[in-house]
Amino acid sequence: MIKRKEQIIRLDTLNTTLVIKADTAEYLYYGKRLANGFDFGAYAGGGKKLFSAPGKDDYTEYSVLLENSDGGFAADFSFSKLRILPEKPEIPGLPSSYGEGKTLELKYTDTTRVALFLYYTVFDDSDVIAVSARLFNGAKKDIHIRRLMSLQMDLPGADYSVVTFEGAWANERNKVSREVGSGIFVSDSKRGMSSHARNPFIMAEDRRGVYAFNLVYSGNHKETVEADCSGKTRVLTGINDFMFDWLLPVGETFCTPEAVMCFAPDEDTISNRFHYFVSEHIVRGKWKKKERPVLVNNWEGTYFDFNEEKLLAIAEAAKRTGVELFVLDDGWFGRRDSDTCSLGDWYDNLEKTGGGLASLADKIRALGLSFGIWVEPEMISEDSDLYRAHPNFAMKIPGRTPTRLRHQLMLNMTDERVQNYVVRVISDVISRSGAEYVKWDFNRSMTDCYGKGIFPGEYFHRYMLGYYRVVSKIVKKFPFVLFEGCAGGGGRFDLGNMCYFSQYWTSDDTDARMRIAIQAGSSYGYPQTVMGAHVSACPNHQTANTNSLEARFNVACGGLLGYELDMTKFTPEEIQEVSEQIAFYKENRKLLQFGDQYRIDEKYVKGFITVSKDKSMAIAVLNQTVAFPSMPLVTVRLKGLSETSVYDVTRRDGKGGFTAGGDLLMNGDLPLCDLFDYDTVSKNSGGLCSRMYILKKRKN
Ligand code: GLA
Repeated sequence: MIKRKEQIIRLDTLNTTLVIKADTAEYLYYGKRLANGFDFGAYAGGGKKLFSAPGKDDYTEYSVLLENSDGGFAADFSFSKLRILPEKPEIPGLPSSYGEGKTLELKYTDTTRVALFLYYTVFDDSDVIAVSARLFNGAKKDIHIRRLMSLQMDLPGADYSVVTFEGAWANERNKVSREVGSGIFVSDSKRGMSSHARNPFIMAEDRRGVYAFNLVYSGNHKETVEADCSGKTRVLTGINDFMFDWLLPVGETFCTPEAVMCFAPDEDTISNRFHYFVSEHIVRGKWKKKERPVLVNNWEGTYFDFNEEKLLAIAEAAKRTGVELFVLDDGWFGRRDSDTCSLGDWYDNLEKTGGGLASLADKIRALGLSFGIWVEPEMISEDSDLYRAHPNFAMKIPGRTPTRLRHQLMLNMTDERVQNYVVRVISDVISRSGAEYVKWDFNRSMTDCYGKGIFPGEYFHRYMLGYYRVVSKIVKKFPFVLFEGCAGGGGRFDLGNMCYFSQYWTSDDTDARMRIAIQAGSSYGYPQTVMGAHVSACPNHQTANTNSLEARFNVACGGLLGYELDMTKFTPEEIQEVSEQIAFYKENRKLLQFGDQYRIDEKYVKGFITVSKDKSMAIAVLNQTVAFPSMPLVTVRLKGLSETSVYDVTRRDGKGGFTAGGDLLMNGDLPLCDLFDYDTVSKNSGGLCSRMYILKKRKN
């Protein structure tokens, strides 16, 4: 809801209020929802600004930096007008959130007649506010945008800890918390992707609560947190200004990606609010609310070494356990027997697919499974027919040796001919195989940015515009296909991509132990509905850890369950165990995929509990990650249950079982005497003990 009284605008979400004073471009308040009223006069003048530019006696990191038509960097934006729009305007060329929501549009004009527009959208059903900026060049000469952040939020106080989600390939989104102190904290990506290293989701926390921010963008991003000497803290988020220099001709507009923000009293509530927002206002299309299939992917089972017989054998074994979708990963096209060649040659390798994708897909379907296919559309191998025919399609700087990563180059997606080519060939792969699922991969960072006729400072962002044009066209063409994004695991795990891909491969690390942390880190800003999670073979291929099938299954239930191993190698006992697990999963899939998930994060017990919307049922996975002699008693507090209900609690294996009130389960410290058992540990060198509990509300 947006209400206005003169220059003061109240933006109320279900549980928060943001108050803006338009003429002075100030934030008067952001926090817990306030009762109605407009008595904010005494709160003006605190200097918490909606935007900042040099030249106005503000020396904290700026949200706007222009090289102006008058030759200077200073800008003097003053208030021009405001409108309350009945709907959120689209951001041309960029993905953004959607849904019913009113939008506040504010316009500020510089003396040169360059205009800055700010947009704040509140959705009727969510606590997340979407913010973006636009710059219109109404001056007499062209200008250069050196920086235009999507959102500036000036927070009261200068004692924040900033929480980021960091890592590397196969070790993404580990939670890191730091005091900001008196310096400037920057989290960013310069890799042409949102990156494994630093996710755009960040939180700023102090005694007031938690402010969380994310960006609906998949390219270079930058989050800056600076505590200034006047006792406030400025958060900026937007496109990274690294190598960014956008020429804005007279009469044209530049639009930033959308930033999203939320306030909540604690981290669990922030996650809850973001889970809802992502599920309702980011993920879209046919698969938004649809239960996702249990899949088997052949990558870790075969890598490049497969033929039709092997694939069908895996599919058959998978079908026997209850798997619903077979995904053919890398290696099915061109002469692709290793990662050194063939990217770009999206035609069937007949030897490996036994007569092509169409016939293979038919045989898979005849077994009763759907068919899915892997592609990596933005890449090109130098050893490929595509490169031999169109070397100029590759991203490289004339006269320089390009940097090869995983032996491959990238396509120059700023070029419309390349974009159209990708749309055509990838559409053809989907059409001829009739694929019901597509995994869209992206396996390297960007280095040799160059496109003929493209101003270098515009390259990174123009790449993203080209990429979004291509992916949106393909997704629109195939509305019934389930698209899963991937970037060497979770290298582009961001809200921009989630506008197109209903799910995302969380990490190339499939070890249950590592996954506990990776999935927990991911869950701060993203719901389980977008997180691919697979059971793989042991010893695990990334870490050499061994964990029980039970532990691997339990951990994967924290995301979208899949298998990534050669299922023909299962013993009859394992087939039996896996079949029971999949049957259980399917029975409880709606709850596990779409229920409210909370992290369990005790000293020795990590996991999650997923609670049905009406709180009548919950599934908890509790993992004890360490054990040592004379260990203190391991206890746990559950979350998300109804305080006033009584629950019957049983272990999935049928052992144990007790009854307790929801309030006790959440506030008492439940001793887990049965969790760690040395038998399991000695059999499994990884030493992870995992139990699944089912909680059912007692009928009165
Ligand atoms: C990336 C993906 C993997 C797999 C391989 C194939 O690493 O993250 O899941 O698809 O590429 O080359």
